Amino acid sequence: MTIDRETVVILDFGSQTAQLIARRVRECQVYSELLPADAPPEDVQALNPAGFILSGGPASVYEPGAPTLPDYVLASGKPVLGICYGMQLLTHHLGGEVAPAERREYGLAELHVDKLDALFRNLPDALTVWMSHGDRIEQPPAGFRVLAHTDNSPIAAMGDPGRRLYGIQFHPEVVHTPRGCDLIRNFLHDACGLRGAWTPGAFIEESVAAVRRQVGDGQVALGLSGGVDSSVTAALVHRAVGDQLTCIFVDHGLLRAGEADQVIDTFRRNMGLRLVFVDATDEFLGALRGVSDPEKKRQVIGERFVRIFEREARKLGQIDFLAQGTIYPDVIESAARDRPHAKRIKTHHNVGGLPEDMDFELVEPLRYLFKDEVRNIGLELGLPAEIVRRQPFPGPGLAVRILGEVTRKRLETLRAADAIVCTEISAADPKHHVWQYFAALPLVRSVGVMGDGRSYGHLIAVRAVTSQDGMTADWARLSDEVLTRISTRIVNEVPGVNRVVYDITSKPPATIEWE
Ligand code: XMP
Repeated sequence: MTIDRETVVILDFGSQTAQLIARRVRECQVYSELLPADAPPEDVQALNPAGFILSGGPASVYEPGAPTLPDYVLASGKPVLGICYGMQLLTHHLGGEVAPAERREYGLAELHVDKLDALFRNLPDALTVWMSHGDRIEQPPAGFRVLAHTDNSPIAAMGDPGRRLYGIQFHPEVVHTPRGCDLIRNFLHDACGLRGAWTPGAFIEESVAAVRRQVGDGQVALGLSGGVDSSVTAALVHRAVGDQLTCIFVDHGLLRAGEADQVIDTFRRNMGLRLVFVDATDEFLGALRGVSDPEKKRQVIGERFVRIFEREARKLGQIDFLAQGTIYPDVIESAARDRPHAKRIKTHHNVGGLPEDMDFELVEPLRYLFKDEVRNIGLELGLPAEIVRRQPFPGPGLAVRILGEVTRKRLETLRAADAIVCTEISAADPKHHVWQYFAALPLVRSVGVMGDGRSYGHLIAVRAVTSQDGMTADWARLSDEVLTRISTRIVNEVPGVNRVVYDITSKPPATIEWE
């Protein structure tokens, strides 16, 4: 299958920031894909690239076994931008000279632009850039001219505008190169002649057509969790095939206050989507009775989930496709190299082990999108902001925020406290600086005094963190007023709670969730 949209291929030579290059290109509204430098040439060709970006990487071009430039790149005659190692590779390949620099250059550098055209069109003649390299260009290849230099790199940018080949020693993709996006845009628009037509609207149109082609008149099932990825997938597939899609929403009884109703309202009542709602609260709580070990809880919930999904899917009759909200970081992280052709799989390879004897084909329309792009598509599809902007929520739900055994009573206590935490922080944080917040219910009781009497009540822990991606996190510096309001309201409004604490640990050493 050949893709006819304008695509720039980024070849990854092992850079830590290769994903960022893909994001920057997409921010210029040009579709891009990141492929390993040794990807099969036919995979790259299938994307019909309008240009190439060669990423940085840890190797030195002279090292034995260093990654090389695939022949198809220059043979294509398409524009190329080499970044750091990519620039050195281009130089080496075209007969220029690369050598170890006397001093490694790492960190911020002042770039002096010698030619204010091509890559540097409309940019000032001095720029702050981020450098991270040991080798440098001593002699550019024939036909190239020097476009910019730093004190340590006499050839910090070079270009051969006739052949539309460019190299830069610094990293335009990182935030420490403040005008990096402008430079990338110049490459895309001027060198590659791209228009920047990749918008949420264009993506939706393309994906709807692709899902229709794939599914034909088949039947599709989707496990809806109410999270961003599965919700946007549902809305998109529904737009493509309407009633051929059935969503199965299993309520394990471990959701936050009002969450199940919100998902049903959005999808069934407002979008008219075929939604099977399974209230499996009794089944899950029964299975969790007496279970207090965190890992055991997760296992019990995961297994039960699979079993219920299987049961409900079978009731629907013949299902040909399973739609999933897989997104690009999942694909990149699993180093998957497969192209967007449909893959027939045994479902136990996926979704935490779906039944072995059901044979689905996967529909994954968000497979090449980053999370923030998924959110934009969701908004464009008309999903409410409460769903599109939803914070991450663990699959096992409130069970991992209730330490010890999960009971109806404890769920009720936690839900009431959590609703207060969410209401107060969201009102105080309209710009979403806080990344995630919730209440947890530890296994602690403490003595208090309420009215004229002694109380022996439960403790609620409030957790609020700032983070980029959940991998690391810091506790959020909430204002005294917000903390006071949360504490007062919880103790006054949630029966049985007489003490509130604020969790001031970062991750690491703690995790965001309490279990
Ligand atoms: P931790 O607690 O590991 O959490 O610091 C990092 C982020 O992941 C979320 N989380 C989960 N998400 N299934 C999920 O889909 C899970 O089992 C799960 N456990 C944790 C957590 O909310 C935080 O945002």
